[in-house]
Amino acid sequence: MHLTRLALTDFRSYASVDVTLAPGVTIFSGPNGEGKTNLVEAVGYVATLASHRVSQDAPLIRQGAEQAIIRAGLTDTTRDNLVEIEVNPRRANRVRLNRVPLPRPREVLGILRTVLFAPEDLALVKGDPGERRRFMDDLLVAMAPRYAGVRADYDRVLKQRTALLKSAGPKAVRPGRSSREAVMATLDVWDAHLARLGAELLVAREHLIDAIRPHVEDAYLQVAGGGGGSPAAISYRRSFGSPGEPAAGPPSPGEFAADKEAADKDRSGHGERVRAAEAGLRAALAEVRESELDRGVCLAGPHRDELELSIRGLPARGYASHGESWSMALALRLASFELLRAGREDPVLILDDVFAELDTGRRDRLARLVAGAEQVLVTAAVPQDVPQVLAGARFTVSGGGLSNAG
Ligand SMILES: Nc1ncnc2c1ncn2[C@@H]1O[C@H](COP(=O)(O)OP(=O)(O)OP(=O)(O)O)[C@@H](O)[C@H]1O
Ligand SMILES: [Mg+2]
Repeated sequence: MHLTRLALTDFRSYASVDVTLAPGVTIFSGPNGEGKTNLVEAVGYVATLASHRVSQDAPLIRQGAEQAIIRAGLTDTTRDNLVEIEVNPRRANRVRLNRVPLPRPREVLGILRTVLFAPEDLALVKGDPGERRRFMDDLLVAMAPRYAGVRADYDRVLKQRTALLKSAGPKAVRPGRSSREAVMATLDVWDAHLARLGAELLVAREHLIDAIRPHVEDAYLQVAGGGGGSPAAISYRRSFGSPGEPAAGPPSPGEFAADKEAADKDRSGHGERVRAAEAGLRAALAEVRESELDRGVCLAGPHRDELELSIRGLPARGYASHGESWSMALALRLASFELLRAGREDPVLILDDVFAELDTGRRDRLARLVAGAEQVLVTAAVPQDVPQVLAGARFTVSGGGLSNAG
């Protein structure tokens, strides 16, 4: 798939901009702070309904404006789509697909699929576990949009259950015996919800990691260079159960299998794994309840799980060099691209200011790896940083507008 048009109104630094895009490579260059990242951030927003830079929407709205509007035209082999998003600071966003309002914004997920590389990606390797969970969940939703609902439901249940734990804990006003019993009964109900949704989410993540593993190993070798086996490894670790305990059954890419036959065969296995994980999570919640009440936090579930990354057997976080961390971050994004395109249309690739961060070897290898994608959007402050193989349309970004640079 590729974007044919991007139009912004009051988004970030842009009062109004409207650009026509073609398949192949497009390079946006210009001095720092002129609005290059703002453009690709808008594209990413259409794909994920979130910014890759900020967790709140307020900074996306141009200072002094009431709302921001993003319009994106895109095309794939089956049809053309027009997505229009109204970003509102104080009330729900509104989304229209081909001029028809969607009942819920998240129904637009999956219409545009992107893989965005950005300087912030280093946090995937060096940052908190939450960064890696977000990476998994975003990719999961791009692969299978129905998980946006599972994720939202899980977050809601987690919030409610945590509030209940706080209200029943030792810091709360001392509850009488009967009210304590009532709280425990209510907690049982929330445990059941949390276990059901949590199991669905975490088993999906496990399938995802099984499916992406070979791509990550391969991409790491290709980016970092060198021969032999890949030094990069990736694995999912649950927050409960014995450490390193594999999920029931042999690893399988489940519903993310490239060929349909394997996917069908795996479906029944998938159901079993979810049920086993649900039982495991319920048991774990019962076990930790006392300490949960003491601390007022929910101690088991996918919100505490970890995506473990390692290079030559050592955890990447805390051990890997700066260059190795970058190679790992790039490998995760490249692997996402390979996974998303397998048996389907290419997602749109976005490279925000990444070449400046890399040495020439990594720069050239990365450029060669992405050059064949259907559409690649590149931003760079210094156009010379972009390797020659990524030749294409050029725009200069300055003064809140774009000009065609050939
Ligand atoms: N909500 C907003 N309203 C007005 N201006 C904004 C808003 N948000 C960001 N900006 C401005 O946009 C500019 C940043 O744009 P952007 O991050 O796209 O720059 P860039 O071209 O990618 O720069 P660099 O090369 O440094 O990465 C800043 O000058 C910032 O003040
Ligand atoms: Mg930038």
